[in-house]
Amino acid sequence: MRLLVQTLTLCLALTLAFTAPSQHEEKHGEKDKSHGDKEHGHKKPDKHHPDKHHPEKLDRCAGVNFDAAAVDEDGVLHFFKGDHLFKGSQGKSELSNKTFAELDDAHHLGHVDATFLMHSEDSPDHHDHQFFFLDNKVFSYHKHKLENGYPKDISEVFPGIPDHLDAAVQCHKPECPEDTVLFFKGNKMYHFVIKTKKVDEKEIKGMPNCTGAFRQMKHYFCLHGHQFSKFDPITGEVHGKYPKETRGYFTKCSKFENKTTAEHIEREKCSRVHLDAITSDDDGNIHAFRGNHFLSKTGEKFHSDTIENAFKGVHGDVDAAFSYEGHFYIVKDDRVFAYNIKEPHTPVEGFPKPLKEVLGIEDHICAAFVCAKQDDVHVIKGQTLYKVDMKATPRAAVKEGTITAFKKVDTAMCGPNGVTIITGNHFYNYDSIMVMLVGKIMPVQKKVSHDLFGCDH
Ligand SMILES: *[C@@H]1O[C@H](CO)[C@@H](O)[C@H](O)[C@H]1NC(C)=O
Ligand SMILES: *[C@@H]1O[C@H](CO)[C@@H](O)[C@H](O)[C@H]1NC(C)=O
Repeated sequence: MRLLVQTLTLCLALTLAFTAPSQHEEKHGEKDKSHGDKEHGHKKPDKHHPDKHHPEKLDRCAGVNFDAAAVDEDGVLHFFKGDHLFKGSQGKSELSNKTFAELDDAHHLGHVDATFLMHSEDSPDHHDHQFFFLDNKVFSYHKHKLENGYPKDISEVFPGIPDHLDAAVQCHKPECPEDTVLFFKGNKMYHFVIKTKKVDEKEIKGMPNCTGAFRQMKHYFCLHGHQFSKFDPITGEVHGKYPKETRGYFTKCSKFENKTTAEHIEREKCSRVHLDAITSDDDGNIHAFRGNHFLSKTGEKFHSDTIENAFKGVHGDVDAAFSYEGHFYIVKDDRVFAYNIKEPHTPVEGFPKPLKEVLGIEDHICAAFVCAKQDDVHVIKGQTLYKVDMKATPRAAVKEGTITAFKKVDTAMCGPNGVTIITGNHFYNYDSIMVMLVGKIMPVQKKVSHDLFGCDH
């Protein structure tokens, strides 16, 4: 046994996009594992991972069958494959032992069966401990250190739970009546009530066997390779059309699929991948950009397409977008593209132009927005807010203030509801820029997928 560990550290830059400042709601996670292809049920798990030593070749957009997934303490989702992991919604694979120090032990990483973060007052001694399951053993880590006395037999710590698990995730009150750990093996789901150690076994019917499980935004997901299903943590039932692809929902991939418009709309509405840019007109109609796709909302009507199709010359991964005097301005790196807001979005003559010329600022900006009929474009770069008068020549970016409430802003817009700041899966409304800069009260946190786009899950 070996292995280990954990840690959760991390996060940072790459993955910050996935986390909301201050929120612990998605914290606990869990993750799991599973042997490469889910043949569980055997006494001897298959430890062989063919791609394990060629991780640099792992491209999650090519459809990696993940072994496990976990949301760490900062709400960042990790996907595990062999001895590698992917952090957040984008980024390349890296050796897990870079993050999870002791995880090295000898090439057994691919063999972590399941893991979850205990976050429960019902288990004061193990609050915020990360548990790893490996064959018949369980390891308990706290702050990257193996707890004394571990590893122990699973049967000792979680009596009634079988060895050679597939997945684990904690179900939190009130989503479950009591804090409960859900364990998966084959087509069985076990509820282990943390306080009483009572175990209930159920058969899962509406989805394939899980290779991993995680909780995000109070929803529970099973991974099946590169697909996932959202399930009811109490009954194990699946409602809605699943499995779906993790790509597009949980990982940022642009070109993997061939889908109908309705599927694109659904994915863009429900994606947990951060937005690159968003813009609102005075009526509250929205265009949101993510990877190679955009999602528009006009009144109650949604549309989605590739950015390339609708905005000739821009190939995705934009930095910012704003609307001003009948035009969309899309910023990518050090260039600004401009199109008519009316469809088809014909390019405005003379564009693209250098960012420096249009906004008087160097790349890479995080967000840009214009509030109702004003001539100022507000630009967020890092944590600084600048103001650019579009009627002035040459254009100059004047510092307006510092945004202290967020370490990182993904994008922002200004519309009938005031200023909206978006970071990761969440957004925050301020009545005005002034309130945003000087207000001491953090606005209510809302969810991009659910509250902005009306995704029902
Ligand atoms: C991490 O694992 C790789 C391969 O499994 C190994 O070559 C490397 O030495 C390990 N790094 C550390 C810091 O243990
Ligand atoms: C799911 O698990 C059951 C046993 O628990 C097993 O019989 C079945 O083959 C598994 N299905 C797949 C697709 O692995």
